[in-house]
Amino acid sequence: MNPTEGKKKKIRLLFVCLGNICRSPAAEGIMLGTVEKNGLQEIIDVDSAGTSGWHQGDLPDERMRVHGEKRGYDFCSRARKFKRDDFDNFDYIIVMDENNYRSVKSLASGKEQTDKIHLMTEFSVQFNNHNHIPDPYYGGSSGFELVLDLLEDACEGLLQVIKKEHSLY
Ligand code: 4NP
Repeated sequence: MNPTEGKKKKIRLLFVCLGNICRSPAAEGIMLGTVEKNGLQEIIDVDSAGTSGWHQGDLPDERMRVHGEKRGYDFCSRARKFKRDDFDNFDYIIVMDENNYRSVKSLASGKEQTDKIHLMTEFSVQFNNHNHIPDPYYGGSSGFELVLDLLEDACEGLLQVIKKEHSLY
């Protein structure tokens, strides 16, 4: 018997922002927690990337790490640049704002790949008056707190959508 027979392919999520040091690594860490809380870590994989390679190899921004720690998260992924291959390696590519959407879409070849791209705020439940996750990089601490509030809410919404689309009940 083929050793991979009977083994289901994982559902793979990739969060994308500009630098991959503030919003998308936070989304990755929060979603990882949401997935684990729901006992779905064998079914769902999570990663993040940036449309720029400016911070390649860096840990998340210190301010994002500190704000995350206050909520019990450990954001510890290393920044990397989004690449064309990511369209083949991920099922959902979830971007933080319209600029990220345009950058990622410019690398897509065809409808199947374009259809994988979603705006994170599509999944918002409580905070449904935001149409993007604002870039906190040049602002103060309230911007980081807002990003975490929006991401926690959208991660819950995203998991509900995935559960529904993949009959994970
Ligand atoms: P992110 O934030 O896209 O949420 O990681 C930024 C990080 C770095 C820069 C801009 C935004 N930067 O200009 O270096």
